Amino acid sequence: MKYALIGCGRISTNHMKAAVNNGLEIVAVCDILPEKMEAILEKHGLADDASIKRYTCYKEMIETEKPELVSIATESGKHAEIALYCIEKGVHCIIEKPMAMSIDDANKIIDLAEEKNVKVSACHQNRFNVAIQELRKAVEADRFGRISHGSIHVRWNRNKGYYDQAPWRGTWAEDGGCLMNQCIHGIDLLRWMMGDEVEEVYGTTRQQFHDYLEAEDVGVAVVKFKNGAIGTIEGTTNVYPKNLEETLYIFGENGTVKIGGTSTNNIDVWDFADETEADQANKNLQEQTSNVYGNGHTSLFADVMDAIKNDRKPYVETVAGRNALEMILAIYKSQRDGVPTKLPLTEFASTDMANTF
Ligand SMILES: NC(=O)c1ccc[n+]([C@@H]2O[C@H](COP(=O)([O-])OP(=O)(O)OC[C@H]3O[C@@H](n4cnc5c(N)ncnc54)[C@H](O)[C@@H]3O)[C@@H](O)[C@H]2O)c1
Repeated sequence: MKYALIGCGRISTNHMKAAVNNGLEIVAVCDILPEKMEAILEKHGLADDASIKRYTCYKEMIETEKPELVSIATESGKHAEIALYCIEKGVHCIIEKPMAMSIDDANKIIDLAEEKNVKVSACHQNRFNVAIQELRKAVEADRFGRISHGSIHVRWNRNKGYYDQAPWRGTWAEDGGCLMNQCIHGIDLLRWMMGDEVEEVYGTTRQQFHDYLEAEDVGVAVVKFKNGAIGTIEGTTNVYPKNLEETLYIFGENGTVKIGGTSTNNIDVWDFADETEADQANKNLQEQTSNVYGNGHTSLFADVMDAIKNDRKPYVETVAGRNALEMILAIYKSQRDGVPTKLPLTEFASTDMANTF
């Protein structure tokens, strides 16, 4: 399957690795900065592979190389425009998170992908973490019984050196703050595990230490799910001196699970009323990862390739991408308006937060 990568920055190494691991035919890479393309090819030992073309314009690349699948790993504010172009041309897409920066753009992606029967997946790769897959099986088997509440804590550190790497970071138009960038995976997992249907979100955000950004560096929220469960979100890039944890808790009448590690990759607590021998292996499950982005890109790519071959929806659908985005925009709107945000959110964009801090 012919594949091309659009955007060759920090996360692109996970995409290259996933492409190689899945045996994709890498026909091209694209970045507006040629040195970024060279660096990523070099890193993966592909710099001398003459079959991989370089493009500084993604439109030209699509027209010329006609890849079947692309992944879009540019700054977040460009995802929607590039994705809509690719979908229009019938190219399947893996879109880095957040899928878009507005509800309107997310809806356009969902609708166009449906119309063109193009497979599009939002890159929430942590859904493929071994621990998260085990938790999902328990949720689907109804092992928790009624769920009381759940929490996600993303307590990370991002310092000036990180934000200085690119001018788009922490801007409302291209990135958003810690909730949109760093916490979106955890927020996606909380919503997915708690039953997806949300009544309202009440959130507060602040910019405490990163006054050189536009957006927030800490946010907390209370989520009321339609099934009666409640959730809490705490996300920040303010933890001194380094990443502390990304931890998901689910509390049900018959079960308690705590998934921790740096990126929800280890099971810290796994207690169920209907415990069997098979649960023992989960009690101390730890998945080794080389960075906080985990190992999930390879599995996500494999799933999308299978979805294309078998004409089915990807495991992480566009709707999942919109749901995660909607939660964060709902927190933003709540901060702006000072009242809870009712869902569904029919319109809101990160840029509606301009001049908040
Ligand atoms: N899934 C994850 O865990 C994860 C982790 C990190 C980042 N991300 C997401 O990946 C995206 C990229 O993040 P990053 O940290 O790699 O950023 P980055 O700034 O390091 O890389 C972005 C790259 O896109 C290039 N680019 C910009 N416009 C382009 C265009 N029109 N065509 C081709 N290339 C273009 C830039 O030159 C740059 O090299 C962001 O949306 C971010 O939220 C996801």
